[in-house]
Amino acid sequence: MARFGVILPAAGSSTRMTGFQKKKPFLDLKGRPVWVRTAEHFLGRNDVCQTIVAVSPDDLDWFRETYRPNLAFMDIQIVAGGTSRAESVRNAIQQLSTEVEYIAVHDAARPLLAARWIDEIFAAAQQHKAAIPGLRISSTVKRVGGNGRITETVDRTGLVQAQTPQVFERGVLEKAFAICRNLAGATDEASMVEAAGHPVQVIDGWPMNIKITTAEDFRLAELFVGALPKPASLGGLHPFGDELFR
Ligand code: CTP
Ligand code: MG
Repeated sequence: MARFGVILPAAGSSTRMTGFQKKKPFLDLKGRPVWVRTAEHFLGRNDVCQTIVAVSPDDLDWFRETYRPNLAFMDIQIVAGGTSRAESVRNAIQQLSTEVEYIAVHDAARPLLAARWIDEIFAAAQQHKAAIPGLRISSTVKRVGGNGRITETVDRTGLVQAQTPQVFERGVLEKAFAICRNLAGATDEASMVEAAGHPVQVIDGWPMNIKITTAEDFRLAELFVGALPKPASLGGLHPFGDELFR
């Protein structure tokens, strides 16, 4: 079985989330902190051998103290994040154990995952060496000028919104980081791997796998928590249900 190391960047400053006391990874989402919900999807998996969360250097002491009870039961490492997301991920890569063969990077601010989605992206990474989920854009896409006027209706053929987990063979991602000259400018790992000249496979993303970015996203996340697919063993088919799979 391939061994995956999981990196959860949680070191951002949540500037687009207004009206909350805490940064978004630390907000309580229906009984558990966002970052804990995110980590839980990976911690119990047989194919995950290491999980690392990147936390802002300013928050490290507070984080260790506040989450001591959670951390006692979680096999998770903590690293200091950087000033950009890619720098946070780089710091975590440097702490990966030698047994890690594939690296999965997943936003701590995306707590709405399902085991079967992780299975899918891990399988794609093993097949293609680099794989990300991408959500097809269903709306008509416009380019809008600074004055609020449409300048163009963009052909949406082939356009997707990149999600995470983004998963790479270890050497592929390490090389992309080594080559990259502008870490601060990279908003995801795939863009760095693309720039390094390695093909990246896209599989269909999942609409509920939203990144909590604004206060409204957080409200949506509260609703979606109860709507995520259940593990197959718990679900089963409802005799009167309309859905074939839950
Ligand atoms: N992140 C990180 N280190 C940074 C910046 C971001 O680990 N220096 C993490 C965030 O904590 C988040 C993920 O990367 O889990 C996605 O980033 P984003 O949604 O942009 O979060 P923030 O940067 O915190 O939010 P904002 O851009 O609104 O300030
Ligand atoms: Mg950000």
